[in-house]
Amino acid sequence: EHGLEAPSYPWPHAGILSSYDHASIRRGHQVYQQVCASCHSMSLISYRDLVGVAYTEEETKAMAAEIEVVDGPNDEGEMFTRPGKLSDRFPQPYANEQAARYANGGAYPPDLSLITKARHNGQNYVFALLTGYRDPPAGVSVAFFAINVWTFFVLMDFGCSHIREGLHYNPYFPGGAIAMPKMLMDGAVEYEDGTPATEAQMGKDVVSFLSWAAEPEMEERKLMGVKWIFLLSLALLQAAYYRRMKWSIFK
Ligand code: HEM
Repeated sequence: EHGLEAPSYPWPHAGILSSYDHASIRRGHQVYQQVCASCHSMSLISYRDLVGVAYTEEETKAMAAEIEVVDGPNDEGEMFTRPGKLSDRFPQPYANEQAARYANGGAYPPDLSLITKARHNGQNYVFALLTGYRDPPAGVSVAFFAINVWTFFVLMDFGCSHIREGLHYNPYFPGGAIAMPKMLMDGAVEYEDGTPATEAQMGKDVVSFLSWAAEPEMEERKLMGVKWIFLLSLALLQAAYYRRMKWSIFK
């Protein structure tokens, strides 16, 4: 089952020569850290990845030092905890998948490291999903969307009106019933750069951050494209000249 197709939003980094909006990545990281990280891991990202992208080295070190990391064994064979450092990955919100499901009514909050690539129309989808919560169509319960229509009425006949409670209506989510509640309310974070934290602003910023996380090499890739096209056009000119010169005797 597909969700409603997300519209195409004008991402500032979408152009073939456009780089990321790094101030937006920084704000998006703030949203991830303050809102999403309590449920979603980003297990592929280390603190050092943020250096020079969203924060200075000093800022990133200070941020990493705020988490506690289990390390070891030491010379005595014991595990110990220490403050985080640049080489540490972002912390995991749950010990394992079972704990994550237990805390979320059976649903699993996916790792967000690659989410904008893992989902169809990723960036637009994640933005539409985060900002797309609304009331279910009049007279229809959210549980209706959780399972197919036939099963719904059969279960209702058996008096199971409580099937999968705690779901939220979101037309962009496949099936329309999602376990994640609406997370982005105006003012959910207070941006350190003073940008007003509207729902749409936070959605845009967190998607910029997630896009960067999934494709940190994008800017390098586009720059390489420019270099290759430049060099190949020189090679083309040279080849065209050489061909005319060699064939000129047959004219
Ligand atoms: C699912 C993003 C905050 C719990 C998802 C999905 C995305 C996402 C992209 C995947 C939907 C899919 O599978 O297609 C975010 C972002 C957040 C955020 C960007 C912060 C702004 C949270 C928080 C919680 C949470 C704080 C826990 C209270 C879940 C759960 C699912 C989910 C349980 C699975 C939903 C299901 O399978 O029904 N989230 N999330 N999320 N999220 Fe979040």
